[in-house]
Amino acid sequence: MKGIVNWAALQSLAMRGFNGGALHKQMQDNPGEFWGKTAVMYDKMAKLEEEYTRNQLETLILDPSDSVLDIGCGPGRLAVPIAQKTDRVTALDVAPQMLAVCEQNAREAGVNNLETRLLTWDDAIIGENIEKHDVIIASRSVAMADLIKLNSAAHKYVFVLSFAQSPSLKQACDSLFIGASDTVTPIPPQNRMLGYNVTFNLLYDMGIDPSLRVVKDGFTCNYSSPLEAYDDLRGLHEFPAENENIFRQNVDKYLKPNPEGTHTFRIETKTYIIWWQPQQLKL
Ligand SMILES: C[S@@+](CC[C@H](N)C(=O)[O-])C[C@H]1O[C@@H](n2cnc3c(N)ncnc32)[C@H](O)[C@@H]1O
Repeated sequence: MKGIVNWAALQSLAMRGFNGGALHKQMQDNPGEFWGKTAVMYDKMAKLEEEYTRNQLETLILDPSDSVLDIGCGPGRLAVPIAQKTDRVTALDVAPQMLAVCEQNAREAGVNNLETRLLTWDDAIIGENIEKHDVIIASRSVAMADLIKLNSAAHKYVFVLSFAQSPSLKQACDSLFIGASDTVTPIPPQNRMLGYNVTFNLLYDMGIDPSLRVVKDGFTCNYSSPLEAYDDLRGLHEFPAENENIFRQNVDKYLKPNPEGTHTFRIETKTYIIWWQPQQLKL
């Protein structure tokens, strides 16, 4: 079906809109290298996100007998807990470092039904080098750029997830190092005009009736003292030691003292989840 708005053009604008397109270009030119370098930071942030990630997991429709393909799985933020609820998970990613962290997280969680797969999604051919799975997950993933391919990869459901507003994971991490590190260039806040409405409308024009849910997301941890928080968060990004006070002031913005003397670090945001049952498309 042809819609009255060219959502595909808006989608490509949305995908290269931030950072004047420079970050997008790095990601596209060599995604394995780009994402590999972020694996440790991403894993740390994903661990701070664990409590909020449950809101996303609760929305997924999963059966214990399901096979699940997580495209661009990263450190397994979703893939590992999904493996605990389903028959088996294929965790696909282009970055070997991300897959190594994913395997480590699976081992630590006692998960043995998760198989990692080093492959760029662009080279994945459904039914040839990657089988159809019951459920497809594309979370903060380049795979969201091709909804037709996602539709063709699932027997039962496709779920796409990403940040519904700023901050994203990277923006949340960067906010702790602005002014402390000159390699942190703040990414402008997300433009609501080019948000999940674009994905929703693309699917609508494909003849799909997608479901949509927006859930609370965020990054949190309880620390015994601000010092413990600084020590834990400092490793997320390198910066010169003389800028320690700037880093601490940034962290302090997100630390709240509790009556019993501990301190809670919290940055909140929102995530959207769009899902549908795969079908014959009316294109
Ligand atoms: C923002 S992270 C998302 C991680 C995870 N899905 C989550 O929601 O936490 C994006 C992931 O996609 C992977 N990736 C990027 N381009 C890819 C491609 N062309 N094929 C497969 N994976 C890719 C990156 O290596 C990275 O692990």
